[in-house]
Amino acid sequence: MVGPLKVLMVSPEVAPLAKTGGLADVTSALSQALKGLGVDVRLVLPFYRSVREGGYKPRRILQGLRISLGDQVLEGDVLEGSLEGGIPVYLIDREDLYDRSNLYGNSRGDYYDNLERFTFLSHAALKTTEAIAFWPHILHCHDWQTGLIPALLRGPLGDVPFYRTLRTVFTIHNLGYQGIFPSGKLKVTSLPPEDFFHPEGLEFWGNISLLKAGIVYADAITTVSPTYAREIQTEEMGMGMEGILRSRRKALHGILNGIDYRVWDPETDRFLSFRYSAHNLNGKQRQKFDLLQELGLLLSLKDRPLLGMVSRLDRQKGFDLVLEALAEIMKLDVGMVVLGSGDHEIQEALWRAAHRYPGRMAVRVGMDERLAHRIIAGSDILLLPSRYEPCGLTQMYALRYGTVPVVRATGGLDDTVVAFDEASGKGNGFKFTPYEPTALTETVRKSVEIFHDRKVWRRLQVNGMKADFSWERSATRYLQLYQFLLKTWEGIPT
Ligand code: ADP
Ligand code: GLC
Repeated sequence: MVGPLKVLMVSPEVAPLAKTGGLADVTSALSQALKGLGVDVRLVLPFYRSVREGGYKPRRILQGLRISLGDQVLEGDVLEGSLEGGIPVYLIDREDLYDRSNLYGNSRGDYYDNLERFTFLSHAALKTTEAIAFWPHILHCHDWQTGLIPALLRGPLGDVPFYRTLRTVFTIHNLGYQGIFPSGKLKVTSLPPEDFFHPEGLEFWGNISLLKAGIVYADAITTVSPTYAREIQTEEMGMGMEGILRSRRKALHGILNGIDYRVWDPETDRFLSFRYSAHNLNGKQRQKFDLLQELGLLLSLKDRPLLGMVSRLDRQKGFDLVLEALAEIMKLDVGMVVLGSGDHEIQEALWRAAHRYPGRMAVRVGMDERLAHRIIAGSDILLLPSRYEPCGLTQMYALRYGTVPVVRATGGLDDTVVAFDEASGKGNGFKFTPYEPTALTETVRKSVEIFHDRKVWRRLQVNGMKADFSWERSATRYLQLYQFLLKTWEGIPT
């Protein structure tokens, strides 16, 4: 190969431009880490309203890109901006598709035209490479919103010489979102039904699944932790995709996410009032006091454990367990603070709960980057009792901030949290397995007991703060995968 390896990431989320969860953090930090390894990496995402209004000033580089969606031909523009570190970002602009208040839907549900919105993104990403003459070796697609791309390259676009040499990687960040649409809409995608709409293709119980399209047609599939890569091949956790995932197991890799220590480090965090490190944790205690004041909680909680949660309000994150266990947990003389956004029922239930514990429990709703950092720093314990968790980033952030994670042993939580063993002093948190309120309560109880033993707690905190989840290691794994895919292909463009 002449020159650097070229990778185009296509993703519905990239931090800090557009974010609903960890996917955004990952596409941004992984790109920066790959750049550090010498890769020419660029990103494509929609020009959402949040990007338009984010004070970001991209320049319009392409106008009137024509894209067929079934019987219609729609036009779109492309703007170019850059991420920190000078990574180019191509923003696909079409107002009626992307200029909306949210990324995927509103309180009434998903937007009715998500198939059109993300089919448009998929075609536009491919057309952009051609139009700007950026010929990537690898197209790295993230989640169902981009699952159509590998299928298009095996189908209608497979005869175009340049596209024939492209290798695709499809990363599953969450198997719970499958991009399901009625079969009658297949023509929107421009895939011929006879070749693609069958159980070995993108048909999923009579519907279209764009997630399945990515799984079936990508050259390699990755997911975001080794344990989740195993779990999704089982009937209990495969969400109906276990069969197809098992059939592709040789192409399926579990690569643990990293975290971006330039953004998440208590020594440099721009959102904290007090900074600190493993050598001196005084700043953490001050930060906790500051948080108690900010949230109007009892200041006497400064000497008692403060439990924090920063999560999407979603079934996945185990809020039902927390709500069921709450009365017992609050008997342990603790404080509790929750920041989340998402499901309205969970939100209401949390608010009702907070009313029962005035001064001891605070609930904040909405996406609030600053408060997320301050809660992760100012809490003593981070709760993450997920039903399932592909990787999870907040427990890794918590570890760095000396905030001890209490998690359910599933997916990436199991891979990153090592149960504390008092006898050897090893381990960095607490975990439990049965998805039951009593299991959560008992594990919180254990953590609270140890909290009151200052010396042992300090040891536990420092173990976590010293753990290394930097991106370099994971980015190297992706790089090896890209190189492997290219080696197995003769006609590599240079
Ligand atoms: P998921 O992607 O399933 O939501 P992760 O743990 O991978 O879970 O990533 C969640 C990311 O979203 C973290 O960066 C976390 O800090 C952030 N986050 C979640 N809820 C909020 C919120 N309400 N405000 C700000 N950031 C949030
Ligand atoms: C998903 C998962 C989460 C993971 C994130 C980034 O949204 O729910 O576990 O950390 O993607 O890969």
